[in-house]
Amino acid sequence: MQAEFSSPVDFDQAVTLLSAGEVCAFPTETVYGLGGDATSSGAVLKIYETKGRPRFNPLIVHCADLDMARTLAEFSETAERLTSLWPGPLTLVLPCAAAAPISDLVTAGLPTIGVRIPAHPLARDLIKAVGKPLAAPSANPSGRISPTTAEQVLNLFQGRVPVLDGGPCATGLESTILAVIGDGVRQLRAGGLARKDVEDLLGRSVSLAETGDPVAAPGMMMSHYAPRARLRLLATGRNTGEAYLGFGQMMDSTGHNLNLSTAGDLREAARNLFSSLHQLDRADVDVIAVAPIPETGLGEAINDRLRRAAAPRE
Ligand code: TXA
Ligand code: MG
Repeated sequence: MQAEFSSPVDFDQAVTLLSAGEVCAFPTETVYGLGGDATSSGAVLKIYETKGRPRFNPLIVHCADLDMARTLAEFSETAERLTSLWPGPLTLVLPCAAAAPISDLVTAGLPTIGVRIPAHPLARDLIKAVGKPLAAPSANPSGRISPTTAEQVLNLFQGRVPVLDGGPCATGLESTILAVIGDGVRQLRAGGLARKDVEDLLGRSVSLAETGDPVAAPGMMMSHYAPRARLRLLATGRNTGEAYLGFGQMMDSTGHNLNLSTAGDLREAARNLFSSLHQLDRADVDVIAVAPIPETGLGEAINDRLRRAAAPRE
């Protein structure tokens, strides 16, 4: 693909591209997605190719509303209750409906399907205008940091991917993924919806999927969200030459310093995480030292992303 997109496309262009089976990145409240018509194998193949994503790693299907979601998946009673958290940063992995109108490539041959209704109004308007569910992984080359602005999408793919600009993402972390099979609920990925919010709704605790779990998310590789620089976690101080990503009270303000949230607010920190990593990674440093982040609320997802970003690369 040629570098032909130096600036974002408008809504009508995005609809035209997606309706013609092309890929187009679009905003959601979590991160930007690399969208394609989920009913078209040609479009879904283009998503895998553009991202350099292994084909065994299934895609999340984005719906405009519950009626559309019901054509794709079987909702148990528990799943029905969880739909009260939609639209929002929650993906449900459910048994795929027998006659679901989607390309087999979307689910990578699994009997389940990941579905979500995004909260960003532009995302839902886009899906409605195309009239088809949109398959969309995060709009980053496989293994890189997810984008939370249209500009980051243009940079990550060096202008080879069209993007609809919906402003910076309000949540800033990918959706929380829950597998809901019958009455059983397991969290496959921590994300923009805190596990506690799900537990409060269901009135019971939600366990984490174990490694080797039959419905574990195939995409949860240990080394992921990788910046170019190495990450040093739980850093209470900054060594010479390191960039520093703080949380709460900042120790010093010299050199390449950013703070996820001076107020120590985890929502704000989640919103700033990927943008800060993108920004510090552009500074010419070998190491980004990162302050300790509490493991409560959205801290679970923030620490998950940081651990993966710090993991040794293959
Ligand atoms: O917030 C988000 O979820 C963003 C926006 C664009 O919606 N999307 C996103 O997609 O993060 P992606 O492809 O980067 O991550 C999707 C994860 C992968 O780890 C994949 O393995 C898992 O969801 N997944 C998708 N379908 C699944 C299924 N049927 N069973 C288990 N895991 C599934
Ligand atoms: Mg991703």
